[in-house]
Amino acid sequence: MSLPDALGALLGDRCTSDPSAMAGYLEDERGLYQGVAACLVFPETTDEVAAIVKTCAEHGGSLVPQGGNTGYCGGATPSGDTQVLLNLSRLNRVRAIDQVGMTVTAEAGVVLANLHDAVEAEDLFFPLSMGSEGSCQLGGNLATNAGGLAVLKYGMAGELVLGLEVVLPDGSLLNTLKPLRKDNTGYHLKQLFLGAEGTLGIITAAVLKLFPRPTEFQTAWLSVSGIDAACQLLPLARRASGDCVTSFEYVSGKSMALLAQHVDGLKPPLAGDHHVLLELSGALPPGGLRPQLEDLLEQALDTGWAYDAVIAESLDQRRALWALRENIPEAEKRAGRSIKHDVSVPIADIPAYCEAAPHRLAALEPLRLSIYGHIGDGNLHYNVLAPEGADPAAFKADKGEAISRAVHDLAAEMGGSFSAEHGIGQLKTAELARYGDPAALELMRALKAAIDPAGRMNPGKLLG
Ligand code: FAD
Ligand code: MLT
Ligand code: ZN
Repeated sequence: MSLPDALGALLGDRCTSDPSAMAGYLEDERGLYQGVAACLVFPETTDEVAAIVKTCAEHGGSLVPQGGNTGYCGGATPSGDTQVLLNLSRLNRVRAIDQVGMTVTAEAGVVLANLHDAVEAEDLFFPLSMGSEGSCQLGGNLATNAGGLAVLKYGMAGELVLGLEVVLPDGSLLNTLKPLRKDNTGYHLKQLFLGAEGTLGIITAAVLKLFPRPTEFQTAWLSVSGIDAACQLLPLARRASGDCVTSFEYVSGKSMALLAQHVDGLKPPLAGDHHVLLELSGALPPGGLRPQLEDLLEQALDTGWAYDAVIAESLDQRRALWALRENIPEAEKRAGRSIKHDVSVPIADIPAYCEAAPHRLAALEPLRLSIYGHIGDGNLHYNVLAPEGADPAAFKADKGEAISRAVHDLAAEMGGSFSAEHGIGQLKTAELARYGDPAALELMRALKAAIDPAGRMNPGKLLG
């Protein structure tokens, strides 16, 4: 019996090899990769995931886990006719919410926005948040150790995990699904799977930290004199707010211009070349953070770091400010797609990075920059687009590699990272080999060989 037939016997119509049924799952979000797979399966339970993995092993096949398929590095796109694309969207139950310990146990296929809704209905809060939250899934978030818009206060996805359930490459189950904050009983094995992008096992469920639902958000849009001023503002905002800054996002005037050009109805509330979207939040008595926000804006204007600011006066106004930030990726897509970069450097070095980068790119002009990102985390999306009127595909084919090399080399020279939050997938395996610490790479290969000796899990991704 072939592998698809064996999986069909196990799952019925939740296994398909029909090209038209598979098509939407075989292409990645950005349209960079067109995949090939033996079949596509939709398990509904952890036991089914384990049975699929065992069946695959018996037939010499391999597996590509897939969540919401919103990843930016082609990690969830299969690339061979012996590969099984294992989509987790039907393993999507919220198993338990613990009001006392403030934890949730949820399955990998829960869409992030649905997880928000489920815990907020219980007056609790799960802080991981990003533009793709209506489609991305918990398992994908954990497998990529996603970042997003509230890392400054709450940390990356992996920092929110207390326990994990993982199906290992031989079909056995690793169960650390405990809601314990303290458990020093040897190696912290769950860490291995956070950011492993499906190369070591399939995450089927997790216990996550929750927080009291914030009762107050104070959100402001500031025009600042430069990116150096934006960086100076961060410690001021943290101090003046009693460290209640949840988000501190930078948006360049060029990204705002792209947005105004390509997404109807979205225009920045203030003119200028440099902007900060700042949010304070907390579970406080009503009005508790407004004086802190006003005080810090006054200080920002007094120092000259900011020269104008607006405060959201309602939930609708808050949503409108966030829409400006969250729609920049969509604006880039409509402008013909960008060459995306996801670099990080120490926060204090961001101005030096932004000063040096245009010089590194000078020989590759003409081009358009769209710079924005999570500067509160030292993370910039230093994205590059073809000049207006040029063919984006030809521009990318001609200059893409040299552009990314320049942007990444500079980050590496400054002690930074070429991939702050989006991971490696199949897009950045060469970068990992180029910039990775040799001892770290060797240890990663040794771990991969120990946990997945037959190379069955997401072949070709991450380590290449
Ligand atoms: P997928 O794309 O399906 O998979 C990603 C990787 O994880 C693949 O390697 C896959 O094999 C593996 N995987 C998926 N599920 C599992 C599982 N259960 N077990 C093991 N491996 C698994 N990312 C950020 O970090 N920050 C942002 O701010 C951000 N903003 C975005 C905004 C937009 C508009 C878009 C389109 C994307 C954005 N992303 C961002 C990228 C992306 O949404 C995240 O990386 C997200 O975490 C991916 O989740 P997913 O469910 O779509 O994973
Ligand atoms: C974001 O922060 O919006 C994404 O991570 C970056 C991108 O889409 O390029
Ligand atoms: Zn981002």
